[in-house]
Amino acid sequence: MPTQEAQKHAFVAPVKSYDLNEWQRGYESLKQEFDYWIDDVEGQIPPELNGTLFRNGPGLLDINGQRIHHPFDGDGMIVRVTFQNGRAHFCNRFVRTTGYLEEQQAGKILYRGVFGTKKPGGWLNNAFDFKLKNIANTNVIYWGNKLLALWEAAEPYRLDPYTLETLGQEYFDGILSEGEAFGAHPRFDPHSKLDGGAPCLVNFSIKPGLSTTITIFELSPAGKVVRKHACTVPGFAFIHDFAITPNYCILFQNPVTFNPIPFVLGMRGAAECIKFQSQRPTRIIIIPRQPKQKQIKILETYCGFVFHHANAFEQDREIIIDSICYKSLPEVEPESDFRKVNFDALDPGQIWRFHLNLQNHTVQQQLLESRHCEFPNLHPQKVGHSYRYIYVAAASASHGSAPLQAFLKIDLHSGKQQFWSAAPHGFVGEPVFVPRSNAQQEDDGWILALVYDGANHRSDVVILDARELHQGPIARLHLKHHIPYGLHGNFTSEVFLPRN
Ligand code: CO
Repeated sequence: MPTQEAQKHAFVAPVKSYDLNEWQRGYESLKQEFDYWIDDVEGQIPPELNGTLFRNGPGLLDINGQRIHHPFDGDGMIVRVTFQNGRAHFCNRFVRTTGYLEEQQAGKILYRGVFGTKKPGGWLNNAFDFKLKNIANTNVIYWGNKLLALWEAAEPYRLDPYTLETLGQEYFDGILSEGEAFGAHPRFDPHSKLDGGAPCLVNFSIKPGLSTTITIFELSPAGKVVRKHACTVPGFAFIHDFAITPNYCILFQNPVTFNPIPFVLGMRGAAECIKFQSQRPTRIIIIPRQPKQKQIKILETYCGFVFHHANAFEQDREIIIDSICYKSLPEVEPESDFRKVNFDALDPGQIWRFHLNLQNHTVQQQLLESRHCEFPNLHPQKVGHSYRYIYVAAASASHGSAPLQAFLKIDLHSGKQQFWSAAPHGFVGEPVFVPRSNAQQEDDGWILALVYDGANHRSDVVILDARELHQGPIARLHLKHHIPYGLHGNFTSEVFLPRN
């Protein structure tokens, strides 16, 4: 019979790996723009790591003190970290979108946000206003000698990679029309079968409605659109990411419905009108990359909600795809404050492997990792191919949902893992794997990431040896300020520094 004292202890919640107040401060705006060599370095920057890490994310969480409703509505700010001969240079600049310039000049919110940001003045002042603010905040890529900030509902913004000055919208020689969507999750095919083995950028866009049009874009290394084709699938779709193989694009049509009325009436943002339907299956849309092959396949399975895929590849008559699945998707509520999120009430994002059988149209799925994780990454030469290592940002605790505080490396062949946590004060962003030049092993390279240091309210750029990720950073580059939690980025081996 347990004593009263022991019973009391049995109900004490486990110690959390984070302090919610500390986590919240990582969502303060960074209004200043910086440009400096990073001198405060713990450890050593590998001298053979040369190139530029670009990353995008919401830099402003308020407009002149008026809070935006959700970080996904925040104006895009590009962070650039350039590595050269064992040193690193930092620079950040806002993407000067039309909306950013207008709101900065007006000193107030002028646009409704997709994720619920409202103009002041209540719903009457927001009803029937469908002007979209392209916030260019989700990803940044360097392709075809162009640096492009991406946001999935509109065209890219182009920036000068040396100065990060905004040059204007990008239409790829008129292939895109004004306001036409270009997804924020392109995939870089290292050896495109359709282009004699040359690299190729593959992207998609979504035009949702009662039925949904999916457009696939493929761009040559010179940045020219070499293939563009579209197909229509039944039903509304909310699709953030996709995966590619040499022959296919694979998209997960999440089980959601869209009720436009509160949006039309100005009471909710468009994304707040999306409702997750747990009893409905996910539809897996498989589109041939060769435009002449018009036959798309749609398979069904039950897998919750998916934002991100890690990778996909073809094996025998199957496509294998690894994705991060949430059992449910909480609605973004108009009156809620994202800073006060109760992580314990959320489902973790877990990595599942799906075997898509193209002959008999069946789907088999298997749980690869139950720990909450997000932002999967891998060796860039393995995109679309069988691969061994996956890197993700993860929760520090092995169960439940929590802020991302750790990195996890999974060996998909052996099942072995390496894990490093920045808890209790560190909050991590997307890990980007950079291969060492002339490397023989798939994990011979580095993981680069931004980590918010909640104890000091500043951010670090961390470098980990991907072979020994569990050893923690080999270098921590302390920035002079914090950087709000961001989204996606990419590394290029080209070195971009301010022109003298
Ligand atoms: Co994403």
